[in-house]
Amino acid sequence: MDILKYQSDFLSYLDSKKIVREPKNLYQPIDYILQIGGKRIRPILTLIAADIFSGDYKKAMPAALAVEVFHNFTLVHDDIMDDAPLRRGNQTVHEKWNINTGILSGDAMLILAYQYFENYEPIVFQKLAKLFSKTALEVCDGQQLDVDFETRNDVTIDEYIQMITLKTSVLVAAALKMGAIVANASEEQAQYLYNYGLNLGIAFQLQDDYLDTYGNPETFGKQIGGDIIENKKTYLYLKAFEIANTADKEKLSALYNKNQKNISEKISTVSSIFTKNNIPYFTHELIEYYTNKAFESLAFLNINEAGKKGLRLFGENLMSRKV
Ligand code: IPE
Ligand code: IPE
Ligand code: MG
Ligand code: MG
Ligand code: MG
Repeated sequence: MDILKYQSDFLSYLDSKKIVREPKNLYQPIDYILQIGGKRIRPILTLIAADIFSGDYKKAMPAALAVEVFHNFTLVHDDIMDDAPLRRGNQTVHEKWNINTGILSGDAMLILAYQYFENYEPIVFQKLAKLFSKTALEVCDGQQLDVDFETRNDVTIDEYIQMITLKTSVLVAAALKMGAIVANASEEQAQYLYNYGLNLGIAFQLQDDYLDTYGNPETFGKQIGGDIIENKKTYLYLKAFEIANTADKEKLSALYNKNQKNISEKISTVSSIFTKNNIPYFTHELIEYYTNKAFESLAFLNINEAGKKGLRLFGENLMSRKV
């Protein structure tokens, strides 16, 4: 399984699509966000899934593109909601242009994503559109919970896992299932792959939350400490709040409750409480737990060993990702 080949084929396909048209102020930001980089994990998963079930991954290109364009739409709106200045090492769309541009270009991307499904015959189209609509609504649910949690101080770790399942994992899972649908895999087989993606997606978002505090600012591409600034109730925060001593707990809730003036001091105090309480270790333990849970689904897949090995390797690499 050659991940780099899927990636470069996907990028060529993306390049072949002429996104920019009139009015330029609507389409240029779309082209911008799609071209400034990204790991392309979701479209790669769509192609992998199609390949392991049918051997013909090119047929899955429009579905892969739909998933990536939808993902980029969520990023544009997410960056507005999270007040984020940086994405993939570049200015976010709403910073480079303005909030209205971010809203409308984002809306257009959501619609473009749907349009790519028109490349498929009616039965496949219907299955893809149905899964996509369900997934897109779930992502909205997750994003709303993420925002609601910012101002709540009684969020549980279970609620957090449910929230990240919705905002992040369902799309990773759906990306895989779409590849299986295009390849005409059985519903049962497609669902096992979906479950693999669901658990992998949870591990993926946990690692994202870890990197948000501990990532290398030179390479991570996003503002380090962004989650701390925004009072995000991540696993890092919730676990620290669970195990820290009373003094640190009080410090944490004070810092997460009022609008802090000194942002860099807030970030350094919070991250030192995380570090002191071994939060990186606990986070990695949970990442491993969900990655292994993902691997359990592989046993049920009727695919060759090379396919299973490839999916396993993909999960292992995600676990240790730095960007
Ligand atoms: C960022 O996703 C949003 C999350 C769900 C954590 P990625 O980390 O896949 O972002 P890109 O596409 O590679 O930039
Ligand atoms: C991402 O969550 C979820 C979606 C974009 C739907 P984050 O807010 O943690 O993603 P990043 O860190 O900005 O990429
Ligand atoms: Mg964000
Ligand atoms: Mg967010
Ligand atoms: Mg994040």
